[in-house]
Amino acid sequence: MEKVTLHDKQFEPYISARELDTAIDAVAVRVAGQYADKLPLFLGVLNGSFFFASELLKRLPIACEISFVKVASYRGTVSSGTVSQLIGLNERIAGRHVVVLEDIVDTGNTITHMVESLQDHQPASVAIASLLLKPEVYKKSLPIDFVAMEIPNIFVVGSGLDHDGLGRNLPGIYRLVER
Ligand code: IMP
Ligand code: MG
Repeated sequence: MEKVTLHDKQFEPYISARELDTAIDAVAVRVAGQYADKLPLFLGVLNGSFFFASELLKRLPIACEISFVKVASYRGTVSSGTVSQLIGLNERIAGRHVVVLEDIVDTGNTITHMVESLQDHQPASVAIASLLLKPEVYKKSLPIDFVAMEIPNIFVVGSGLDHDGLGRNLPGIYRLVER
């Protein structure tokens, strides 16, 4: 793996595709064990979760469904800060065991809004699975149930994660070169 330049920034190899594979194997075993007879509905958060969603689901020998949603953030007209809205949720959520799939949980703002919106639809349960987690940054009380790998507070791209639209297609994970 070589350094890559995306827009104005340089990134260097950080986690190999093989290491990620092994970490996702372990998550898949846990998810399959917990959801074997629950017909879970996986909800991937676009765009970043496409890689993790496909890698996780191909490892699950259980009956399941998958759909994708977008989280649109916009500034409210009042001084309430950023408001998030779920777009593309067409499935009936009521009574379902939902597993939200994320590429990365950083502050947890995105996933917290997402789970709160989902709760309005009365699911039987909601769990979160994320390819990456930054535990030094994440301070919310909501448990992140399944995490493939934890990373420190650095900026990374690859395997679904982007820098301003670029880098999602890189195999493995690359980290920003600070200079
Ligand atoms: P949070 O709401 O702070 O948890 O951030 C979640 C979103 O920020 C993720 O879904 C990513 O889109 C983006 N993000 C956070 N950290 C990184 C990173 O290191 N690389 C690329 N995107 C990131
Ligand atoms: Mg994202």
